[in-house]
Amino acid sequence: MKPVKVGLLGLGTVGGGTFNVLQRNAEEIARRAGRGIEISHAAARDYDPAHLPGIEHIQISEDAFGVVEDPELDIVVELIGGYEPARELVLKAIANGKHVVTANKALIATHGNEIFAAAQRQGVMVAFEAAVAGGIPIIKALREGLSANRINWIAGIINGTGNFILTEMRDKGREFADVLAEAQQLGYAEADPTFDVEGIDAAHKLAILGSLAFGIPLQFDKVYTEGISRITGEDVSYAEQLGYRIKHLGITRRTGSGVELRVHPTLIPDRRLIANVDGVMNAVLVHADAVGPTLYYGAGAGSEPTASAVVADLVDVARTLTADPENRVPHLAFQPDALSDLPILAMEDVETAYYLRLCAQDQPGVMADITRIFGDAGISIEAILQQEPQEGEQTVTVILLTRAVRERQMNTAIGRIEGLDTIEGHVTRIRVEHLSGQ
Ligand code: HSE
Repeated sequence: MKPVKVGLLGLGTVGGGTFNVLQRNAEEIARRAGRGIEISHAAARDYDPAHLPGIEHIQISEDAFGVVEDPELDIVVELIGGYEPARELVLKAIANGKHVVTANKALIATHGNEIFAAAQRQGVMVAFEAAVAGGIPIIKALREGLSANRINWIAGIINGTGNFILTEMRDKGREFADVLAEAQQLGYAEADPTFDVEGIDAAHKLAILGSLAFGIPLQFDKVYTEGISRITGEDVSYAEQLGYRIKHLGITRRTGSGVELRVHPTLIPDRRLIANVDGVMNAVLVHADAVGPTLYYGAGAGSEPTASAVVADLVDVARTLTADPENRVPHLAFQPDALSDLPILAMEDVETAYYLRLCAQDQPGVMADITRIFGDAGISIEAILQQEPQEGEQTVTVILLTRAVRERQMNTAIGRIEGLDTIEGHVTRIRVEHLSGQ
């Protein structure tokens, strides 16, 4: 059978990795796909031929639109990233009848509904395994491996840069900015690193996971997003004393009143496997009704790990080129006409437990005031940790762990506590998840 012809947009970290993996494993990949997969045309502004042996045999230009218009190509791989011109290129490729493989989480999370509808009309596939958790085949698992299940919730460490920063802060006491600079040097961080540290990258990925889990349209704009830039070494160390680790989690859960979509730093018990996922590694924990919990772990970023997912998508597309469009695995796991309009819950309606750190004046009655406010708000306290005041200091740090409560109630209680004359500054709040059972 004739090889499948592929056009590549971008020869950077992931594009270069994709080229090299396809070259190196060409024979094995052809045995799996049933035919060869050949990159014949690429668009790149900047690339390093020294690290791409064989690149001289393919047509390369700076014109990405030239690639999507190339009539010889069956599949276009978009590895440019960002919203535009990636969206325009992908839509043009689809309009030209080409299948698309992309690693672009920002594009899928924000324009996926439009892109999938266009692909549906044209009878082409858009594959995006590399968009979530790099090399971990989590999209394959959700769309196919778990298709017997009703999924209850997903909690994932889905940003390697953020996890690397939190791990280094905990293990080596390093400063936030210093670790971020290293992640940038290693090629893990997004072009705009605020996407990593403020949770936007994780929110893109979570929007995709939520849609795949619950069969709802992509709704990135409804993801509650909080980054790790305000996590201090102090909180990391108090969490540890209480038997928890702080991880930056993306959580999506089906509840009786809607779907939660939230990204925020989270205390999780240190005995959970996912609490021990360190460095740039990613992990996604899926809780489903029939299988129970399953955990997917691996490299969430980097050249060849991400290329592994891109090439797997190419094999998938190559295998199904001859299948009727209606018999293919649906883009969002559920048939397009069977998507549900379950509401996405506002953060105020989400229930979680909390870790709170506050700075209180060292005088009688302060603790009584705090506990009264919690009692009035119907919030149950699970643990209290109070440090002895440092010599000469008039204030003490108080750490509280609460039981699960609706965020709205907690906002009211925190507002009242911050209003006490005996409390200094703001109350630090980090949500707590036990990640067990339902
Ligand atoms: N910046 C991302 C991360 C890259 O650190 O996980 C992979 O999406």
